[in-house]
Amino acid sequence: MDSLKRHTDYGSQDFTEDTVLPDPFAQFAAWLADAEAEEVFEPNAMILGTIDPDNRPSSRTVLLKGLSAEGFEFVTNYDSRKARALVAHADVTLLFPWYALKRQVIVHGSAHRLSAAESDAYWNRRPQGAQLASAASKQSQPVASRAELDAALTALEAQYPEGATVPRPENWGAYRVVPRVIEFWAGRSRRFHDRLVFTRGADDSWAITRLQP
Ligand SMILES: Cc1cc2nc3c(=O)[nH]c(=O)nc-3n(C[C@H](O)[C@H](O)[C@H](O)COP(=O)(O)O)c2cc1C
Repeated sequence: MDSLKRHTDYGSQDFTEDTVLPDPFAQFAAWLADAEAEEVFEPNAMILGTIDPDNRPSSRTVLLKGLSAEGFEFVTNYDSRKARALVAHADVTLLFPWYALKRQVIVHGSAHRLSAAESDAYWNRRPQGAQLASAASKQSQPVASRAELDAALTALEAQYPEGATVPRPENWGAYRVVPRVIEFWAGRSRRFHDRLVFTRGADDSWAITRLQP
C-alpha cells in the first residue's frame, strides 16, 4: 500500500496553447501514436462512462476501433448493459488513461449505432476466435457457471470449424461517439498540470479553453 502515500513528480511537458494542434482529432492521434510508441498496454483502451436507464452512472473499458473526423468508434454487444444505457441516454464520456505518459484525454459526446454494413466491416476484421466468443456470450447477463459459458463456445466451435465464416450476430455492432468536448490533460510538476479543452461550436469549429488544474 506504499502507493497511497507516494508523491510522484509528473515532470514538465511542452503542452501549451502554442504547441497544441488546432485540430483536436490530430492532437488526439498524435498522443495515441505516442502511447503506441511508449508501448502502453492497449493504448486504445478507453473508459466508457454511460448513464443507466435509472439515471445512475456506470463505466467500463472498451477498445477504440476507429477514429475519424466524425468521431471515436467501438464495438460491443447491443443487448449489453452499456447498450441498454445508450438507448436511454446517448450522452457518454470516454477517458483515455495514459498514465505512463502522464496524460489523459476525456471526451464528452453522444453515442450512435453505426449501420449494419459498418458493423459487418468491423466483424469481418475480427479473428475467428473472438467472433465465436462474441457470438457465444450474452454479454452482461448472469450465467450459472464457467462450464455453461464454455459449453456455449464449444457448441459454436463445432458449428463453425476453423476457417468457416461466422455470421455477425444481430446484437453485435459498432457505435460512434460524436464529440462535443475533448479535454487534453498533461501532467506537470507540483500537480500544477495543463488542461486544454476543445469545445465544438455551432459551425463545427473548435474553441480552446484552458482550465485550472
Ligand atoms: C482492456 C479491456 C478492453 C475491453 N474491450 C471491450 C470492447 O472493445 N468491447 C466490449 O464490449 N467490451 C470490452 N471489454 C469488456 C468491458 O469492460 C465490459 O466488461 C463489457 O463490455 C460489459 O460491460 P457492460 O455490462 O457495462 O455492458 C474490455 C475490457 C477490458 C479490460
